[in-house]
Amino acid sequence: RDLYGHSRRNAAGVEFGHRAALDALLAEAAAGAVPAADAAPRIDGRPIPGTARLAVSPIDAETVVGTVIEADAAAAALAVDAAQRGFAAWAATKAELRAGALRRAADLLEAERGRAIALLQAEGGRTLDDALAEVREATDFLRYYAAEAERLFAAPLKLPGPTGEDNTLAFRGRGVFVCISPWNFPLAIFVGQIAAALAAGNAVVAKPAEQTPLIADFATSLLHRAGVPASALHLVPGDGEIGAHLVAHPLVAGVAVTGATSTARAINRALAMKDGPIVPLIAETGGINAMIVDATALPEQVTDDVVASAFRSAGQRCSALRLLCLQADVADKMLTMIAGAARELKVGDPRQPSTHVGPVIDAEAKARLERWIAAHAAAGRLVWRGTTPSGGHFVAPAIIALDSPEQLTEEVFGPVLHVVRWRAGNLDQLVDAIKSNGYGLTLGIHSRIDATVRRVIERLGVGNVYVNRNMIGAVVGSQPFGGSGLSGTGPKAGGPNYLPRFAQEQTVAVNT
Ligand code: SER
Repeated sequence: RDLYGHSRRNAAGVEFGHRAALDALLAEAAAGAVPAADAAPRIDGRPIPGTARLAVSPIDAETVVGTVIEADAAAAALAVDAAQRGFAAWAATKAELRAGALRRAADLLEAERGRAIALLQAEGGRTLDDALAEVREATDFLRYYAAEAERLFAAPLKLPGPTGEDNTLAFRGRGVFVCISPWNFPLAIFVGQIAAALAAGNAVVAKPAEQTPLIADFATSLLHRAGVPASALHLVPGDGEIGAHLVAHPLVAGVAVTGATSTARAINRALAMKDGPIVPLIAETGGINAMIVDATALPEQVTDDVVASAFRSAGQRCSALRLLCLQADVADKMLTMIAGAARELKVGDPRQPSTHVGPVIDAEAKARLERWIAAHAAAGRLVWRGTTPSGGHFVAPAIIALDSPEQLTEEVFGPVLHVVRWRAGNLDQLVDAIKSNGYGLTLGIHSRIDATVRRVIERLGVGNVYVNRNMIGAVVGSQPFGGSGLSGTGPKAGGPNYLPRFAQEQTVAVNT
């Protein structure tokens, strides 16, 4: 429990090996699948009319998930104006009351997790364990930032000074924060950004990924029902062009974006070109994440961790393993074990609890991945390829052998693992080659030599390092998440330094 008596515990999971617990969860998800969902721009809580399109699932074209009305430029501008009107009252609301609304949202989300899981599966193609983990992560973000708001914003920090002078430092909201979130964590990251911006006293205009507006609409309504005023949180579904309209609006006081490095760069440029106040950007982007395995590593552990890190969530995590670096002496043996374990992965309908790998998000993602794999296969580099059912946007997992880390020049966002070999004595060169890609998000190390682990961590300054374990699924409050370089600006989500970046500081010195 924290200072305020609130539990700091993370949301509870479900033991899938326990048949009754699994059946209960499946029943909740099945009940949550009806009725069909809808999404629309919601300004001051009211839907803005427009032409609706049908949202079709990545699982198969027959599953219609709901209807979506997208915002146009005029609706985007209205949302920012409405948020600006709502800002003053929300900023003046005590931090404890803002935190209370976020905690009620966490409780509601747990109560309605069946609906959330059903939408995550149908709209996002998430497997049952991914969907449950995502509901838990979103719940954790809400409770964590609520507690952080109380820790940081409830009372100004008293600072030293000479006798007769009273110095304090206080945080306050900046104004309208635009939150632009990705489709790969359409609930957790959508909710996490909003919760942080709201906790810090900002009004929010949220722009979810164009692939996942339905889950965003559900989460927005849940936050409103929990007590976040409709004037403090507005939803603007749409594509990147709508995001650009939002960012360009003169009243925007801050932008948080999680997505591709190219998107963050475009937003950064647009903000730099604006007249008026200098607008801060918080960006969390991609990575070309490596795992370094030496000859002392435990082969069975490596196998499990590689398969989970590269192929779970169909490789659609920014933390996912892209480049496995095996010490040459053990490479053949490890690769045989990894391909053997990957062969056991069941690719298919994510609503089946036995499925390990669901679809990728859309036809474009599938086509891009297939082109990448085909080009490497033509060059004789394809080591192993799995199989998939037909119908949805499924991509069979693949393992590709490269000659050097530098050959992997882009973030391949799917179930594709690239492998290189390195020779003992060349560890520093390997690390420098990995570093040269300019990203700095996650890194895995499998070694039982402490000096090796320390040397790699020291030389490769990535954001999140995982030693002798898998490298996905950062836990809120335990593994604050985010990288550097091409991977983002920081601060780390789910960590103690996140909220201050959403706020402005004010120092007051009083002559008493
Ligand atoms: N937070 C996610 C993870 O740690 C990012 O993709 O896997």
